[in-house]
Amino acid sequence: MESGFSNGSNGNNNGAIAMASVDPGLVACVNGAASRMGWPAVQVVGTTFQEACTQAASLAPRVFIADIGPGNPEDLNALASLAAQRQQDTAIIVCAETLDPQMARTFIHLRIADLLLKPCEPGDIRKALKNATEARPGEEVTDAKIYTFQPVAGGVGNTVIALQAASLLRKKGRTCVVDLNLQQGSCAEYLDLEPRFHLDEVGQDPERLDKQLLEAMLSHHESGLVVLAAPPDPAAITSFNANLVTRTLDLAATSFDNVIIDMPRTWFPWTDSVMLGTDHLYLVCELTAPCIRQAQRMLQCIASRSDNQSSPRIIVNRVDNRKSAGCLQAEDAAVVFKDAYAGSISNMYKAVREAIDRGVLIETIDAKNSMLSDLQTIILPEEQPAHRRSLMSFLQPRRALQMAATSA
Ligand SMILES: Nc1ncnc2c1ncn2[C@@H]1O[C@H](COP(=O)(O)OP(=O)(O)O)[C@@H](O)[C@H]1O
Ligand SMILES: [Mg+2]
Repeated sequence: MESGFSNGSNGNNNGAIAMASVDPGLVACVNGAASRMGWPAVQVVGTTFQEACTQAASLAPRVFIADIGPGNPEDLNALASLAAQRQQDTAIIVCAETLDPQMARTFIHLRIADLLLKPCEPGDIRKALKNATEARPGEEVTDAKIYTFQPVAGGVGNTVIALQAASLLRKKGRTCVVDLNLQQGSCAEYLDLEPRFHLDEVGQDPERLDKQLLEAMLSHHESGLVVLAAPPDPAAITSFNANLVTRTLDLAATSFDNVIIDMPRTWFPWTDSVMLGTDHLYLVCELTAPCIRQAQRMLQCIASRSDNQSSPRIIVNRVDNRKSAGCLQAEDAAVVFKDAYAGSISNMYKAVREAIDRGVLIETIDAKNSMLSDLQTIILPEEQPAHRRSLMSFLQPRRALQMAATSA
């Protein structure tokens, strides 16, 4: 697999992270963070916590993540002995279920780099890793939340949804849309912006891309939205350096609070690492049986890829709430996709067309548009009134799509 969101410019990070853990969820989470930082996969050491500490002392990794159980004095002693022997630059990050006063005192004495209480969010782990390895004393490293949208078929509304998501998230922090359809993107077009990500300047030498150059290549929309998009070139058959993609996203992630990625439909060598470094991955489809089957294939494909442990969720777009016999309904998709079903977005033909034609956000046309509230329910569920959140539990199964699902 290609490296993650960083090009590993911190030097040689081989054997960068060693870990004592029997929690596969936590290991996957740390691997996602490592990928995004351009570091190799984490090395889980030892069969017991104490053995792991002994092995880490001789491995001298850049970071040791200690997933420690509650109050076992021998585990604390093993960690203390590792801390006493560790090389100057091995940072210790502790992940614990609970924290009693004895543990807290020990961790302070051991001068650990960070302490995370389980369950840990991928963002917390990334931040802890970055702070432990990149921050200067007293400095906090910022790290964006990454939202990635990938279409399962052509024209399903991926770009419209990505821009709309950015419009909702920009109210919560600095937000940048990155159009990874590097040859035929439409993000800039839909907002009537001049695309300024000139790949000819950096394509062959991604190292040239730094924060300042990235800043110069951003397009600014009147709404405050910031877009990174390359001028479309329908005839281009260039294959892009994966390092360019990962470096671009890494830089964007350090400059913004939210990064929204509009992914191309085609699978590229960098697709897995973008997905793995993502906090929220959405696959966008339409409510037709072929499209739903295609979404199922995508889910299966991602689940089967050993270097991609992301958890995609499905958004069904352009749903017409007028019930029409013989056509699939949103509740059918909920049945098929089960936990992977994120929700549906209403068909808002007039508002969406007008927004695209005028190069504005949909909320400028109609702030109470149900497309916006549908998407808000999906990406910011905590901001929804309770009655909207519980709507999903009333959805009823339908046979037609269950049959489509089993035959796929
Ligand atoms: N929820 C929606 N309601 C009505 N039209 C939509 C909706 N979402 C997308 N569209 C329309 O679908 C077309 C394709 O959208 P686009 O975002 O370009 O798809 P993709 O990026 O998947 O190719 C556009 O013309 C857009 O106006
Ligand atoms: Mg598109």
